[in-house]
Formats: sequence, C-alpha cells, structure tokens
Amino acid sequence: MPSQPPAHPSEQATMPSSDYDQSLNDNEIIGHTEVRKVRGGTRMTDVWNLKEEELIPVQFNGNGQPLGDEGGIFNKFTGCVARVANQIPLDAADWRKVPMSIKEGLLEPHDEPELGSEVRRLHKIVGNAVTEGRHIVVGTGSWQLFLAALYALSPQDAPVPISVVAQVPYYSVYPVLTDLLKPSLFKWVGDAQIFSKERPYIELVTSPNNPDDHTREPVVNGSDGILVHDLAYYWPQYTPISSPADHDLMLFTLSKSTEHAGTRIG
Ligand SMILES: Cc1ncc(COP(=O)(O)O)c(C=O)c1O
Repeated sequence: MPSQPPAHPSEQATMPSSDYDQSLNDNEIIGHTEVRKVRGGTRMTDVWNLKEEELIPVQFNGNGQPLGDEGGIFNKFTGCVARVANQIPLDAADWRKVPMSIKEGLLEPHDEPELGSEVRRLHKIVGNAVTEGRHIVVGTGSWQLFLAALYALSPQDAPVPISVVAQVPYYSVYPVLTDLLKPSLFKWVGDAQIFSKERPYIELVTSPNNPDDHTREPVVNGSDGILVHDLAYYWPQYTPISSPADHDLMLFTLSKSTEHAGTRIG
C-alpha cells in the first residue's frame, strides 16, 4: 500500500473515529524498506503518515479481495480515500455528477516537484536533453503539449493566424492536430521547404523524424520563425544519442521512451 500523505491536513478530519485504535510496533526491515506489521488494527493516520520507505504488504485472494489484518486496513484506507472531500469521489457513477468545483480544481496547474526532478534525472542519465534552466511541463501525451506549445507561441493580436510548417515527410498527425479546434491563432500550412520565410511561422523539427527516421535540422531559417523540437524518438533505443539536445522548446513523451504507445504522459 503506497504512502500518500493528504494534500491538506484538514483531510485527516474526514477519518472515521472508529479507525482510531492502537498503533503497532514490531516492524521488520527488508532491504531498505521497513515493513510494518499490522495486528488487529492500526490508525488511519498511521497509514497517511507512512514514510516513503515504509510498506504494509497486503495479500489478496483469487477474487482480488484483500486478506487478513492488512486487508482490513487496506479496506478502511481506500474507503477513507473515497470519502476525502477534495479528491475525486469514487462513488460518483457518472462524470457529470462530480461537483464542478472538483473538476475545475483538476484543470488547475499542479506543481509536482518530485516528478520534475525525476524527469530531469532521466534526461541526465540518458544524456538526451539539457534540462537546467528549463521548465518541465507535463501533459496528457505529446499531442496535448504540442497544441499547448502552438497556443503559447502564437501572437495573440496578429491580423492572420501564424503559419505552422514541417519538412516533408512529416508526422501525419501534425496537420490534423493543428487545425483540430479550428483555431484563429495558428494554421497548418504544410511543407517547410517551400514556405516563404518572409512571414511569421512555427516550424516543427522532428528528430529522429517520423516516418523516415532521419535526423532533422530546421529548414526555413527565416528571421521571424519559432522552432518546436519534437524529440519523441530521441532515445537510445531508436538512435545514437550524440549530445544532449539544447533547444528552447523540446517535446518528449513517455509513450516513446518506454514504448508503451497508450501512455498519455508527455
Ligand atoms: C513524432 C511524434 N511526436 C509525437 C507523437 C505522439 O506522442 P504521444 O503519444 O505522447 O501523444 C508521436 C506518436 O507517434 C510521434 O510519432
């Protein structure tokens, strides 16, 4: 059972009073992990306050039901989580029944310092990106981040939408995504090689490229251009990592780094 401290101390007030019984000792150390023994009962606050290196192992039967004293704690704990007011209620049968205030809260940007430092650590170990002095922005896959980047980079008061270009052959999803919401700020224009560099533009530089694996550099080289580097495949299983990529805006995605295409974390 992972330790997950509540975001706000007030959440602890939601614990049922019947859960407050004696705390336990006799813990055992396995490797670097302290395994907590549970006999007869423990307090929910003990579970919320488990240290990162502490675990309560839970056994399940063939039907997926938790067993023994630890299973009892597991049931109580998950029951508490389901009732904590500022998390998504598990008992809402329909997304439309989740209170609007909770849904709006989910759309707020959240600071996740630990995730950020793990992302930086991974790039440092692999040596595929410079992360010092950069913000790490996490989204539901590279697609969402791609759209967020276009929105953030487009001038808000331009008389015409900024042109979005990529050298052919390009990833077939780019045109679809760019024009998906019929935005007035940016517009898919197509092949970067025949684009007139006199106009403002955003060039997508995909390296290694999908679909041909080629290493890519910007091709327009106009003075009024902004570059978005899609480095989805800049991982050692796809290409030699020659040096850490060092661009203003770089897109990476877990779906390609771990090769689980369905993973929606970019
Ligand atoms: C070049 C390139 N960028 C981005 C993506 C999409 O990544 P995600 O699955 O994170 O949305 C793909 C997926 O095939 C891709 O080929």
